[in-house]
Amino acid sequence: MQAERPGLGDEIVRRIDALAAISETPDHLTRVFLSKEHRAAAELLVGWMQQAGMLVRIDAIGNVCGRYEGLEPGAPCLMLGSHYDTVRDAGKWDGPLGVITAIACIGGLHRRGIRLPFAIEIVAFADEEGTRFASTLLGSRAVAGTFVDGALTGRDRDGITMRDAMVAFGLDPDRIGSAARRPDELLAYLELHIEQGPVLEAEALPVGVVTVIAGATRLAVTLRGIAGHAGTVPMAMRRDALTGAAECVVAVERLCRGDGGGLVGTVGIINAAPGAGNVIPGLVSFTVDIRAPTDAHRKAAVAGITAEIERIAKARGLDLTIDLTHENRTAPCAMWLQEQIADAISAEGYRVLALPSGAGHDGMAMIDIADIAMLFVRCRDGISHNPAEHVEPADVEAGARVLLRVIENFKPKA
Ligand code: GLV
Ligand code: MN
Ligand code: MN
Repeated sequence: MQAERPGLGDEIVRRIDALAAISETPDHLTRVFLSKEHRAAAELLVGWMQQAGMLVRIDAIGNVCGRYEGLEPGAPCLMLGSHYDTVRDAGKWDGPLGVITAIACIGGLHRRGIRLPFAIEIVAFADEEGTRFASTLLGSRAVAGTFVDGALTGRDRDGITMRDAMVAFGLDPDRIGSAARRPDELLAYLELHIEQGPVLEAEALPVGVVTVIAGATRLAVTLRGIAGHAGTVPMAMRRDALTGAAECVVAVERLCRGDGGGLVGTVGIINAAPGAGNVIPGLVSFTVDIRAPTDAHRKAAVAGITAEIERIAKARGLDLTIDLTHENRTAPCAMWLQEQIADAISAEGYRVLALPSGAGHDGMAMIDIADIAMLFVRCRDGISHNPAEHVEPADVEAGARVLLRVIENFKPKA
């Protein structure tokens, strides 16, 4: 079966811009889980999925779910997805490209009156980034049935709990379990996403097939010292939580740089209290994000970093708590799906490059109920989680063609 030509790309790029216009702040793209902008974005996605001939609902966690029936109503589905929340001051492609490209592909099938021997569902996941609350992958975990209710008591930086934010969005926190899907409802989970790294660009390729998604651990660290007068407490008598945190931040960098085996560690948030220029900081909290190519490597690194933070806190007389806020094991992409993506890439005339994903994706949660796979699209200079994130329209088109070809030729696992 031939992919529709020409051009799903123009519509996809227009819609990327339309979705990016829905932001908390006019000059930066920020659209966090359960915000009013998140709600407005969900409504836009509902309309686009309906235009593509899909039956659409917003599930109990805020995922926008569309279904395009196959030849036999009620058949298991090939699930396509990505997320519609963003980091703060985000690029516009991370997440939305996968959702909008999937909708464009189904719209193409719908316009041509094509039904396949299986159903297709698209899920625009409500939270992948974990920007607002401490835990991530909330949308896909709800679908996989692994959402942990304890997350509902998590608070955003304004002190609002996830439970209250859900109610404000129009959702019932006690019904999250109803978003869960059974493994027998899914044939596979497939996600198109920007690479967020430099490999495809270096290889002069618009697309690539993902082999594995690296696991991740996030810690929330709190150091408690003694707040005091900046003018009167001698340096040797201080228990300054912020200088302790600074030493920890540099230790994370040092341990990861010294590893040489693909270990990466990031402190992305740090808060110091009470927060006055003439007060020694008594209380500091910060996050640590740790990723490595294998779970064993990551776990060893987490143990090493934790031990070093403990040592620093003890040496400085600081009370320490370390909470594990997020842990996802490495998620391999199924070989039978990688092969189908590789065939589609070849059929579109590109060399097949297989590459791992250092970034996290919804497939890490979906792997609990389905075999997963990912198709990467090149992004400029490998830049992501940054407003400079950019995908060339020709690469949008290439990604859409490959995805449509995968869908049209999809063969469930024998
Ligand atoms: C999501 O983008 C992540 O990898 O943290
Ligand atoms: Mn993403
Ligand atoms: Mn992201």
